[in-house]
Amino acid sequence: MSTALVDRDASVSEVEETTAETGIQSFLVTFIIRRFNPEVDEEPRWVDYDVEVYSTDRVLDALHKIKWEVDGSLTFRRSCAHGICGSDAMRINGRNRLACKTLIKDLDISKPIYVEAIKGLPLEKDLVVDMEPFFAAYRDVKPFLIADSKPEAGKERIQSVVERERFDDTTKCILCAACTSSCPVFWTDGQYFGPAAIVNAHRFIFDSRDDAGDVRLDILNDKEGVWRCRTTFNCTEACPRGIEVTKAIAEVKQAVLRGR
Ligand code: SF4
Ligand code: F3S
Ligand code: FES
Repeated sequence: MSTALVDRDASVSEVEETTAETGIQSFLVTFIIRRFNPEVDEEPRWVDYDVEVYSTDRVLDALHKIKWEVDGSLTFRRSCAHGICGSDAMRINGRNRLACKTLIKDLDISKPIYVEAIKGLPLEKDLVVDMEPFFAAYRDVKPFLIADSKPEAGKERIQSVVERERFDDTTKCILCAACTSSCPVFWTDGQYFGPAAIVNAHRFIFDSRDDAGDVRLDILNDKEGVWRCRTTFNCTEACPRGIEVTKAIAEVKQAVLRGR
């Protein structure tokens, strides 16, 4: 990871000197971050930072560098730093991504890199939004196994490979909200459950061990449910886990109409 932040006035030779010391190629990148401090700002404002980064650095590394070396008040969420916890979804150059999975060298570094909070959820501070509306929709679809019977004493609930494959894709969700906060219906309609909630309903609706699929389908057949989806595919493009989100929503729509 990078170890020093380059001053805006630093010369190319200074950067090259650092490169010579480490033996790893470094380059200077401008980040323009949408900052918002609710205690002093009436509106968010864009602030730029020039950062020396290495070819192995991700956007999260650059954010750490700014926070640790320039402005400790820069606020963002992150935990695992390896694409598992789902806490650092943000808009990077206008696209929802995980900062910890986005290599800076894969972006166009000849131009500034714009970083802002995900859309459609209340902005709290800098890159942090209030996730409660997102998790409220998630809770509404009952994202847990509901079984009417108990397995035989000492036995597991048996499931075939084919039955498991039916919902394998949607088990991969990490609840990052990249899909829901990229959905234009969710932006304009505060009532829509959003794609992530439907993905997590799908995970149980098609699980052969679960007995509450019809309850979830009833919930999603509501005016706030699957019929609000306009098949714009933003959610599928945004998902860092490669889940076929729009396909899962289509399967839930089919199940509402024709049963599972
Ligand atoms: Fe994130 Fe994908 Fe889950 Fe949506 S479906 S919350 S984008 S992991
Ligand atoms: Fe929204 Fe995805 Fe449907 S972006 S409109 S939930 S296909
Ligand atoms: Fe956990 Fe990025 S920090 S997914």
